[in-house]
Amino acid sequence: MEVVIVPDAAAGGELIAEAIAALIARKPDALLGVATGSTPLPIYRALAAKVASGAVDASRTRICQLDEYVGLPAGHPESYRSVVLREVIEPLGLSEASFMGPDGSAEDVQAACEAYDRALAEAGGVDLQLLGIGTDGHIGFNEPCSSLASRTRIKTLTEQTRVDNARFFDDDIEQVPHHVITQGIGTILDARHPILLATGEGKAEAVAQTVEGPVASIVPASALQLHPHATVVVDEAAASKLKLADYFRATYAAKPGWQGL
Ligand code: F6R
Repeated sequence: MEVVIVPDAAAGGELIAEAIAALIARKPDALLGVATGSTPLPIYRALAAKVASGAVDASRTRICQLDEYVGLPAGHPESYRSVVLREVIEPLGLSEASFMGPDGSAEDVQAACEAYDRALAEAGGVDLQLLGIGTDGHIGFNEPCSSLASRTRIKTLTEQTRVDNARFFDDDIEQVPHHVITQGIGTILDARHPILLATGEGKAEAVAQTVEGPVASIVPASALQLHPHATVVVDEAAASKLKLADYFRATYAAKPGWQGL
């Protein structure tokens, strides 16, 4: 995997927004997989600024969701559908029709998961999948010990993840759902280009294990090592436990600019 160390979250957001802009320029109807949470917000802001300035025409871009809480009422502001509408679809000036995600309120959750995997495949597959990382090493909501071959399915959140996400629910862990639908690790690895952004010291241990540890289901993000074109963008704080940080810096500095991410 390619590891790129950037000074801060804003620089990471700008770099990844440029990669998305390059994708959209060569494939206007690209399918862009989006993550929620705090980490990708600088990406969405940087991309929205490019659209607002006319530098990027995202009008044909299609958006798909990585995961969704199960059991939140329709329209709940913290459902990931609401978050993606608010943070991505509206700022990019897209319509809801360009957006797909798993149905977290389906009566038959398993059928909804299978339908979502089929829909992704029928849409031609995900071109670029944005990812954050949990402090426990999850990607999507594939918690530790998820099968590395897993497809979209229901998962139970760990206590750690519910604690981490309580900040979106008035700091009240009781309001954080226990269950989610998440693209599986196998589903994520089907994307043509997964890009993981990690920022802040709290992610440093998970990043070090993801990049420099063995591929192991205890650190689900380590499965990205198996992808032929995965990129991990980290700020200095999140890179602070990487033994090979200097090597990654030198490798990226020597990369021809035209290659992009
Ligand atoms: C969200 C998701 C999660 C988050 C992760 C980090 O759609 O799939 O894997 O990316 O929990 O969340 P933040 O960015 O809030 O630290």
